[in-house]
Amino acid sequence: MTAIAYADGQQIAFDRSKGNCLACHKIEGGESPGNIGPELSNMKQRYPDKSLLRKRIWDETQFNPITVMPPFGKHRILTEDEIDQVVDFIHSL
Ligand code: HEC
Repeated sequence: MTAIAYADGQQIAFDRSKGNCLACHKIEGGESPGNIGPELSNMKQRYPDKSLLRKRIWDETQFNPITVMPPFGKHRILTEDEIDQVVDFIHSL
């Protein structure tokens, strides 16, 4: 179990010791994003199948073996529950 109960997926995504997604992605509401990865927007339209979005966040190396994006699920950087919350947040963008 995690010690800290996060209020929502946005916090987990933006927290530098958790998702740190802003290091590489521009995300609405986040400050000073990096541009190594694509902007995360129109996600609902682009991912009608939410489970595909989850798979990519869980382990992007399944889709691109040489990606620099960390495999958050496979490497247990985030718990399954944290990933669910991040997916809900990203899918809402
Ligand atoms: C070290 C940089 C880096 C970090 C940190 C990172 N990503 Fe990525 N991400 C990328 C890159 C680069 C791509 C482009 C696709 C590839 O490399 O396979 C990508 C692709 C994606 C995609 C598919 C994009 C699309 O346009 O369909 C999603 C969704 C995504 N990332 C979500 C996240 C989330 C959520 C986090 C934080 C939990 C995160 N990423 C953290 C680099 C990163």
